[in-house]
Formats: sequence, structure tokens, C-alpha cells
Amino acid sequence: MANALGFGILGAGMIAPFHAKSVKASQGGRLVAFCDMAKDRVEKISAEYDVKAYTLLDDMLKDPEVHVVNVCLPNHLHHAAVIKCAAAGRHVLTEKPPAMTLRETDDMIAACRRANVKFGCTVQCRVREAIQAIRTAIAQGRFGKLLHADAYMKWFRSVEYYHSEAWRSSRKSGAGVTVQHAFHYVDLLQYLMGPAKRVQARMDNLAHPDVRLEDTLLAFVDFQNGAQGVVQASTALWPGTDIRIEVNGVDGTAIVVGERMTTWKFREDRPEDEAIRRLGDAAQATGASSPTALGFADHGVVVQDMIDAVNTNREVVIPVSSVRPTLEMVLAMYQSAAKRQPVDLPVIDDDSIWEM
Ligand SMILES: NC(=O)c1ccc[n+]([C@@H]2O[C@H](COP(=O)([O-])OP(=O)(O)OC[C@H]3O[C@@H](n4cnc5c(N)ncnc54)[C@H](O)[C@@H]3O)[C@@H](O)[C@H]2O)c1
Repeated sequence: MANALGFGILGAGMIAPFHAKSVKASQGGRLVAFCDMAKDRVEKISAEYDVKAYTLLDDMLKDPEVHVVNVCLPNHLHHAAVIKCAAAGRHVLTEKPPAMTLRETDDMIAACRRANVKFGCTVQCRVREAIQAIRTAIAQGRFGKLLHADAYMKWFRSVEYYHSEAWRSSRKSGAGVTVQHAFHYVDLLQYLMGPAKRVQARMDNLAHPDVRLEDTLLAFVDFQNGAQGVVQASTALWPGTDIRIEVNGVDGTAIVVGERMTTWKFREDRPEDEAIRRLGDAAQATGASSPTALGFADHGVVVQDMIDAVNTNREVVIPVSSVRPTLEMVLAMYQSAAKRQPVDLPVIDDDSIWEM
């Protein structure tokens, strides 16, 4: 593949193989290198995939075969890495959340724009067929006036999970069920309904007493479009069950469980509805019980999109700018939980939410 787009994966931890397998399975992408400050770890995975190993990002950025960097570092390290990649003229696919603050997010977006590089984010749940069907039906007005949009994430993560890497139990590093696990499902609500205008959140630690983080989030959301919603997200609820996304309008209801469309009902049926009711793979694990119980197909779509976007010089399907309102909702939830009162959006950064 002489003209293949070269990928370098920064951070060789838990999520890195999802990116690596996605590049391997892509049309027109080539895995070139991993980079991780943990020498043993990066050498092991690089040998497994038969690619180069770097321990410093600066060195990987000198490699002319690396055209795209997948930023798979702990959350608080995304910003500095993205800025470096943009300055070196590399396209960037960052893991979620894109950064810890709106200030950092805007800074990264501006840097990538200045450098004329693509800047995408792996909030990969957006690409699921059932979610796409809901988004299309909303755009077509099939739900009528939208009334409710809810996300339920009743997951389980063990105490060992929280202690498996130092950053996983560190608020400063961007850990906590809201910004780390629920981010995807807050993002789906934002993707489907548009931005929020007010949130009210409560956060608790129900089952991880020696971890100084919230393991449970309860939030009310008022969306700008007039609909309401709730987000219920936890890593305390053994054994962990599939996520549920529900959208209700005056004229219809859709419910997705895991990846499956389980309810698709409209006052007016359409011929395509029968097929939509069968969308989603019942066997596909979605991470409810363990972080690695997850397929890589969704990451694969996002990686393939980056390749196609670069080759045809178009915008990526999930630009970081489209994820900024999700981060804003999440930040508003932390601010609301800290103040014990509702918070109106837009919010400004309050760095004290990361100090605990
Ligand atoms: N999209 C998803 O579904 C999904 C799922 C899990 C995690 N994530 C995201 O992926 C990112 C990484 O999570 P993870 O679970 O793989 O973390 P991890 O701790 O397993 O891996 C992170 C790696 O980064 C390395 N690292 C830390 N600082 C470094 C530095 N300065 N330079 C080079 N390497 C450094 C560590 O040695 C480690 O190997 C996070 O942003 C997380 O939110 C996304």
C-alpha cells in the first residue's frame, strides 16, 4: 500500500488495540507505529503488530510515515498532545473526552484549523445504525414535537479497574463516571437533540469507597429544543447491563438497548420501519461489565472516515467541534453537582471541578 495513510497510535494502553485493529481492517490505512512512555508496553504491542515503537511523541512526529496520530492517552494529556501533533502538521483522531476544559478544546480546534489538519473524536457510538435511524427520523420530523430523551448506563467496574492505572482514580486526570464512561451517552443525547440549556446533576459514590470519584450520576437535562431528559449513569451496578437510549416525541418513540433498536413506533408506519426494528446486533457487547468487552467495528468506521476525509479533503464525520457541546454539558453537570443547584448553559470553565 504505497499511498496508504500512515497511523501512529499515541498511548498503548487499553483502548489502543481498538484503534490498531481498526487501521488494520481499513481500506487505505497503514499502521506505522505505537508511542508510549512505558517502554516495555510499547515494545510488546509494537512487536505484536510488527510496527515501530517510540517512547517520545516528539520522535514519532519526526517519522514521515506517520500522517495521522490517534491520541489514546489519559484524558488530561489530550490537549498538549493534540497541540504538538497539529504543530507538526499531523491529522489527529483523539479519544473522548477531547479535553478537560472548553478553553483547551477551543485551543485544539484552532490549532488544527491553523495547521489545516483534520481533527476528529472517537465518540464512536454515534455511528451505530440504530442511532443513525433515530437521527434521520428526527430530521424528517417523524417524532413530531420532541418531549424526552434519556440515557441509562447501568454498568459495573470493579475496584481493581479503578486501581489498574493511576489516572483511572484521579479526578485531575479526567476520571469519574460522568466525564469518562457516561460521556458517550451524554454525547448521543446531544447528537440527537442538540445542545442543552440547563442541567441539574447529583453525583454519588455508591460502591467504590476507597476511590475519591463519583461512580454514579443522576441528571435532569433541559434541551434548547424544548425537550427534557434524564441521564442515569453508574459503574456501581453489578453485573452491568446494556445501555438504553430513549427518545419520545408526540408522534413516536424509539428505544435502543445496547446496539439494538428494541422499540420503534410511530403513529404513521412507513415501509422502512420493519427493517429499522431489526437494526443492531444482539450479540455485540457494549462494555457494560468490562472495558474490554467491546467490539471495534464502531472505531473502525471512525478510522475509515478519517482516511476518506483526508483522501477527498472533506470534513470528518465527527469533528471535535461537534463534541464541544457534549463536553459543555458534562462540565455543567460537575458544576451543578458541586453547587447543588441547576446550571444554565453556556458555562465558562471552572477548574475547581477537577480538584477533589
Ligand atoms: N472510545 C471509547 O469507547 C473508549 C474506551 C476506553 C477508553 N477511552 C479513552 O481512551 C483514552 C485512553 O484510555 P485507556 O483506557 O486506554 O488508558 P490506559 O491507561 O490503559 O492507557 C494510556 C496509556 O498512555 C500512556 N501514557 C501516559 N502518559 C503518556 C505520555 N506522556 N506519553 C506517552 N504515553 C503516555 C500510558 O503508559 C498508558 O499505556 C482515554 O482518553 C479514555 O477516555 C475511550
